[in-house]
Amino acid sequence: MPVTIKSQNEIDIMRSAGGINAEVREMLRENISPGITGFELDRLAQEAIKARGAIATFLGYSPWGKPPYPGAICFSVNEVLVHGLPGNQRLEEGDLVSIDLGVTYQGYVSDAAFTVGVGVVSEEARSLMEITEESLVQGISVATVGNRIGDISQTIGACGEESSLGIIRGYGGHGVGREMHEEPHIPNHGRKGTGLELRRGMVVALEPMFCIGDPATHELEDEWSVAISDGSLSAHFEHTVAITDNGPEVLTRA
Ligand code: MF3
Ligand code: CO
Repeated sequence: MPVTIKSQNEIDIMRSAGGINAEVREMLRENISPGITGFELDRLAQEAIKARGAIATFLGYSPWGKPPYPGAICFSVNEVLVHGLPGNQRLEEGDLVSIDLGVTYQGYVSDAAFTVGVGVVSEEARSLMEITEESLVQGISVATVGNRIGDISQTIGACGEESSLGIIRGYGGHGVGREMHEEPHIPNHGRKGTGLELRRGMVVALEPMFCIGDPATHELEDEWSVAISDGSLSAHFEHTVAITDNGPEVLTRA
């Protein structure tokens, strides 16, 4: 899927898709507490998306010969980094859970994620989440016309490095539009001044992923869930961002 440049009209639609995404994520956040399962949250997400005239992007998604994705959300707990499948496991006090949500509205995709602690979590976990979210804020701030993909990647990666966190290499951000995964791929580490130049009308999903220990990952038997191999805690934040002449516009914020 090549890099696509969106018109103002397309960005307006993507803003609506992003607004729905933000509302549904907020609803999910309010429902996160000890005892709830991924299945239950997924059901809530599916209903809320439908009620807003939109489509759950992830449901049935089947790239690279993978089995169709079985949910509307990714539900990744503790050492599961991303793409965790919603299931029967009940959240427990102290867990870290990442929720990733894709919403398609009028043919355009919004993709966003957050990580949150269930009840009280360790100081280490809190700091991991804060730094990962801050790296997203900083990555967004350099998503401007004339900068390059490497400027975003370097900015995000530097945040993790400064705090000695593990920076996950195999996964990253991406272009987004009619398809959830468009070019370019956006690594969470890199060098300033390298890579594709950002132009007005590009829309990108930025998604830093850091962990406390070694960043090696492996896929679980369900063929979707990606876990940190040494079992350390991980965090993941994502927004869909339009590159405009007036700077970056976050489309997935309420
Ligand atoms: N934000 C995730 C990504 O870009 C969404 C994956 S959805 C899934 O990889 F269906 F592929 F799990
Ligand atoms: Co994404």
